[in-house]
Amino acid sequence: MTTVHAMQTKLEGLSAQEGLAWVAAQGLSVAFSTALGEEDQAITHMIATQRLNIRIVTLDTGRLFPETYDLWALTQSKYGLSIQAFFPDRARVEDFVNRHGINAFYDSVDHRKACCQLRKVEPLKRALDGAAVWVTGVRAAQSANRQQMKKVAWDAGMNLIKYNPLLDWSDADLRAYVQQYAIPVNTLHKKGFASIGCAPCTRAIAPGEDPRAGRWWWETSAKECGLHETKTSAAAAR
Ligand code: ADX
Ligand code: SF4
Repeated sequence: MTTVHAMQTKLEGLSAQEGLAWVAAQGLSVAFSTALGEEDQAITHMIATQRLNIRIVTLDTGRLFPETYDLWALTQSKYGLSIQAFFPDRARVEDFVNRHGINAFYDSVDHRKACCQLRKVEPLKRALDGAAVWVTGVRAAQSANRQQMKKVAWDAGMNLIKYNPLLDWSDADLRAYVQQYAIPVNTLHKKGFASIGCAPCTRAIAPGEDPRAGRWWWETSAKECGLHETKTSAAAAR
């Protein structure tokens, strides 16, 4: 069995490209969740061009921007791969919307978190069912909260090893990689959008503003949807 510690030791010394290739060759079930962000597009490029045995999944919350759906379609056709969709549970979303309203996330942090739970966290659990390793595009430079995260950690909530291959990439590293390989990105970036999530919960940012300032901009919370809030440990074994 692969321990988190063994995987951490191995992956710390490898580049993102090498690390993904190594993880994919371990005979484990590996799933990568993409939100079609720039980091995710870079990882998809690495998986596609190295033909890695890593399943790619996305959570369609039902509230994404049209530009995000266009990028999803473009990415599938450009790389000739499948990005598997996971949708929220219909009955639970209907119940929540009928009780609290279609835009209840603006009313309170509790309602916002409940919406994220229904539309993102619960579908992610299904998307990762059977996976031993979960790959994400999280980077430490994205927020103070993410600076506490590790490249490889045990995710107790999802019950698997979480691997963030781009954790230590700077904004400049990412920009350079995307440009070098002409990787398709969301057309909203050109309109001032930095980090992009659901349409009603994302706005463009002003020059010099924090990149995550446009996410849940009306809140002063840690601005996490719950996917990356679970308790992790670098030492737990599997
Ligand atoms: S979020 O938690 O604030 O929404 P962010 O947009 O920064 O996350 O994305 C960080 C990582 O979380 C992505 O690289 C991806 O691995 C995962 N993620 C976030 N949203 C989705 C989604 N809708 N579908 C799949 N993965 C997602
Ligand atoms: Fe709901 Fe907004 Fe969270 Fe999307 S980001 S799941 S619309 S609260």
